[in-house]
Amino acid sequence: MPRRPLVAGNWKMNGFIASLAEVAAMATAYDAALKRKVELIICPPATLIGLALEVATQGGVGLGAQDCHLSESGAHTGDISAKMLKDVGASYVIVGHSERRAEHGETDRIVQAKAAAALCAGLTPIVCVGETRAEREAGAALSIVGRQIEGSLPADAPGTIVVAYEPVWAIGTGLTPTPADVAEMHKFAREQIEARLGGGKSESIRILYGGSVKPANAPELMAVENVDGALVGGASLKAIDFMAIAEAYR
Ligand code: 13P
Repeated sequence: MPRRPLVAGNWKMNGFIASLAEVAAMATAYDAALKRKVELIICPPATLIGLALEVATQGGVGLGAQDCHLSESGAHTGDISAKMLKDVGASYVIVGHSERRAEHGETDRIVQAKAAAALCAGLTPIVCVGETRAEREAGAALSIVGRQIEGSLPADAPGTIVVAYEPVWAIGTGLTPTPADVAEMHKFAREQIEARLGGGKSESIRILYGGSVKPANAPELMAVENVDGALVGGASLKAIDFMAIAEAYR
């Protein structure tokens, strides 16, 4: 079974009710021919998921969240569970984004528990991994990502998982790795996923590239072997840019 490409927009801490017009424009531009080629989802802030549901899903655009708590419910003021996200219409949730790892001290162990909580709630976790600039310069990019995959993926995943490779130094900087570096990392990531999950499961797991994906570089990056789509930050806020990235698959 060929892997169906996935282009996911991560709005991060951006977006108001007025921004739903962008989701509507995405849904309109996502025509039948493009739907056959690529799956599209938007991960707005949790405040907008329920509000975006109708306009997004009517146009075939899926919804995801940006984080979830590792517990199902309880005394965790300010947190949101995977089950709650599912309840308001999310079908995906990003876990272990480098901004969460850096700003909230999330370790591989926490990310793994969040991914497991997502699966348990019937959501597909998008598990993020990626090295820092210092780690790449030290020649440690592969070993760091290998360790993150080993530590962040639940060993016996009862559902689908998506993995996103996002080099920290490429996020929001306009910098990207070369296609050769992306190819090397994604091939390695698939081997590590197989080592973690076994049973040929890695073949069906989509590995997204994220970090300064723009309309101009999307065709080159999406053509790299073992790249099964993109996790897009800044360029996902405007329908015109996000759809131009998705067009790389038409
Ligand atoms: P940019 O596309 O803005 O570099 O962000 C990438 C990212 O972090 C997506 O999760």
